[in-house]
Amino acid sequence: MSFPKNFLWAGAVAAHQLEGGWQEGGKGVSVADVMTAGAHGVPREITDGVIEGKNYPNHDAIDFYHRYKEDLALFGEMGFKAFRTSIAWTRIFPNGDDAEPNEAGLKFYDDLFDEMHKNGIEPIVTLCHFELPLNIAKKYGGFRDRRVVDMFVKYAVTCFNRYKDKVKYWMTFNEINNQRDVNNPFFAFTNSGVTYKDGEDKLAVMYQVAMNELVASAKAIIEARKINPNFRMGCMLSMCPTYPETCRPEDQIVTLKEMDKSFFFGDVHVRGHIPSYTKQLWKNNGWDIKLEDGDEEILAKGTVDYFSFSYYMSYVATSIENNPNAVKDEFVPGVKNPYLKTSDWGWAIDPVGLRYMLNVLYERYEIPLMVSENGIGLHEEPDAEGKIDDKARVDYFRAHIAEMKKAIEIDGVDCFAYCPWGPIDLVSAGTGEMEKRYGFIYVDKNNKGEGTLNRSRKNSFYWYQKVIKTNGEDLA
Ligand code: BG6
Repeated sequence: MSFPKNFLWAGAVAAHQLEGGWQEGGKGVSVADVMTAGAHGVPREITDGVIEGKNYPNHDAIDFYHRYKEDLALFGEMGFKAFRTSIAWTRIFPNGDDAEPNEAGLKFYDDLFDEMHKNGIEPIVTLCHFELPLNIAKKYGGFRDRRVVDMFVKYAVTCFNRYKDKVKYWMTFNEINNQRDVNNPFFAFTNSGVTYKDGEDKLAVMYQVAMNELVASAKAIIEARKINPNFRMGCMLSMCPTYPETCRPEDQIVTLKEMDKSFFFGDVHVRGHIPSYTKQLWKNNGWDIKLEDGDEEILAKGTVDYFSFSYYMSYVATSIENNPNAVKDEFVPGVKNPYLKTSDWGWAIDPVGLRYMLNVLYERYEIPLMVSENGIGLHEEPDAEGKIDDKARVDYFRAHIAEMKKAIEIDGVDCFAYCPWGPIDLVSAGTGEMEKRYGFIYVDKNNKGEGTLNRSRKNSFYWYQKVIKTNGEDLA
């Protein structure tokens, strides 16, 4: 029993959460640059432009922009086979609608991908990871506007042409399904540059925006294959398996419908058409979701080669209104699972859910899967000798990798890559904190932005190094 020989042991990050250098090399302002630091239970504020005196943690992040050589050397030392990062759209097209790309931005990623290869690391690249140009959000209302589809495709094609010999694995939109939760303004803004207007039907807008993005993704994939037929094109969804609270039949229906909100995105990406349950939902609500002539052919042609997903936690759904077990957390819907512990940020720790999700996805789609994010945020302080014994992180990964192994070896799931989230401490997307730490590598920086930015190896660094070396055989 073992992982496939060429299994991609990796790590995953996003440009805006670690690069910093928010105004360097001609970079434009992104939606991430106007989000202040929050905390668990304190939402990040989305400001109207950059306001002096506010704390914008993504502006400097962990300065990967200048320190990537040191960081990639550390990933190389751990034995990474691959590394997932994103291209900041605003480094390539600072305003999104620029006529020409920004050479300094293109050059930065040339150097970055070269450095990865020098370290024996295969790049896995997300084109849009919560970092749309702010100009697109303000001038066009984000992906509400169909013109943005072509801006995205132009950006994608520019990247495909430039990096066609350096990058094989691509994904279009990160966690594209997050925006299904229309009650949290964070998701619409980070996914699509959208701010809902008072009185509008948010769900109708969400589906229109989502269709625009799915068409953009399919168009980009069609172009990608012309540029390099060896590219592997993927999607990326946040998959939190939802369990019914009880065996009450009504709970099963609610659970099914809850999962369909995410499967809609996956079904279009993989199957290339809008699923019947979504069409019926639009019809029942009288929503006139607009598609252009030829869009259906584009969706059918621009399907993905692999399905990637982030996995952090599972949810529980209930059919009972005002259920007393309801979780009160901006990022966790539904009711509490009495069988699971939660992290300090309230996320249910559920390794078995990863095996379950891998099975559900593989049975549904029958294409290769990538776990493109998985990890746990912890509060951590170095001890008197400057060391960090992050046993809780090792326990978390050990349990999740063991379940992924079962999915591959016992259940026959074709999973070809595993990317722990935040192999180096970085700015949290949800709360904007530095101190929600995910890394195998500690970064000396706190929530106020103070610290030397020095990097140091936590105990989990050596543990993951061993896991990679033994191709997942030694999880002790
Ligand atoms: C995913 C995102 O939602 O989860 C990442 O793709 C994010 O960008 C990660 O950082 C962990 O979430 P958070 O809020 O703890 O940073």
